[in-house]
Amino acid sequence: MSIKIEDYYPRATFNKLKAFADEQETPFVVIDTATISQAYDDLVTSFPFAKIYYAVKANPAIEITELLRDKGSNFDIASIYELDKVMSAGVGPERISYGNTIKKARDVRYFFEKGVRLFATDSEADLRNIAKAAPGAKVYVRILTEGSTSADWPLSRKFGCNPDMALDLLILAKQLGLDPYGISFHVGSQQRDIDVWDAAIAKVKFIFQRLKEEDGITLKMINMGGGFPANYIQRTNDLKTYAEEITRFLQEDFGDEMPEIILEPGRSLIANAGILVSEVVLVARKSRTAVERWVYTDVGKFSGLIETMDESIKFPIWTEKKGEMEEVVIAGPTCDSADIMYEHYKYGLPLNLSSGDRLYWFSTGAYTTSYSAVEFNGFPPLKSFYV
Ligand SMILES: Cc1ncc(COP(=O)(O)O)c(C=O)c1O
Repeated sequence: MSIKIEDYYPRATFNKLKAFADEQETPFVVIDTATISQAYDDLVTSFPFAKIYYAVKANPAIEITELLRDKGSNFDIASIYELDKVMSAGVGPERISYGNTIKKARDVRYFFEKGVRLFATDSEADLRNIAKAAPGAKVYVRILTEGSTSADWPLSRKFGCNPDMALDLLILAKQLGLDPYGISFHVGSQQRDIDVWDAAIAKVKFIFQRLKEEDGITLKMINMGGGFPANYIQRTNDLKTYAEEITRFLQEDFGDEMPEIILEPGRSLIANAGILVSEVVLVARKSRTAVERWVYTDVGKFSGLIETMDESIKFPIWTEKKGEMEEVVIAGPTCDSADIMYEHYKYGLPLNLSSGDRLYWFSTGAYTTSYSAVEFNGFPPLKSFYV
């Protein structure tokens, strides 16, 4: 397959990143902050009624935190370490949600002492910890959703609980002196099926109604998580279409009584802003007559490309070399045989590709730097630059 730059970046943006990249030694990611700024504005325009909580795990770089802080974003935080980082950039606790349902009691206390008052939960043990360590806090319960087959990077199963359990937890939250605030879900990252939001919102509506009618609890918020698309090889609908459809689902179920809506985008805000640049280490064949070539690069699963696990995320790969294409297996530089990025999905690269040539991995701004190992086989973590 051949990748067209224009399908992924405006020419001027690509030229700017490429010129910067030409001066650096591989491997690294270069990220265009103007693209992130535009993606944030597009999201706000598409969902004018929603509050944005950037999922810091997608890329915790200070440059991105500061940019989104100044644009008025809130932050979805997964750990005390992310909390310290974001707060030291001057973000106040009222702009933070502790979105990880798996947390230690002492970490809940740490957040509470820092002033955070909004907590996700999906189990009784965690809820009881929150009641003790963060008395009176707002809690929202994460529910399980469908959609694991249509999301490229599914998240449900590990997180969330059944609606029946969510009802029990929210009733218990009230008994424990907490503020039963709302419901959250995450339909899976890079979710290509928009209808999955419809089913999730219908479950939320059921929970809102039941609690109001039978338990006198009025929930106030829906946190619809992330799942919005980035541009990879497998195309998706555009954000506008997602927004129109999801807004329609909300209106159908909640009409004039629309609760507070939170979104927690990670990938869709950051991914398209980045290009990961790597160098071909070797091109090899396994026998004299083997048709398939192996292309080994200086990045791999352990240096930022872990989302190629099970070939889940198919990054577009571009090279300056032109000419006849042939199928390749693409693998990383470490002495670990799991370090193969693509073997089953057939990538084509030019036959004249050789050691020292550069490969440009498009849409790699999210979930690359933060996933990179610190010293596997001695390789340093993936470098990143923000322009
Ligand atoms: C709680 C939570 N919110 C939001 C996100 C961001 O999702 P996405 O990158 O699909 O936008 C994640 C991703 O793992 C998450 O765990």
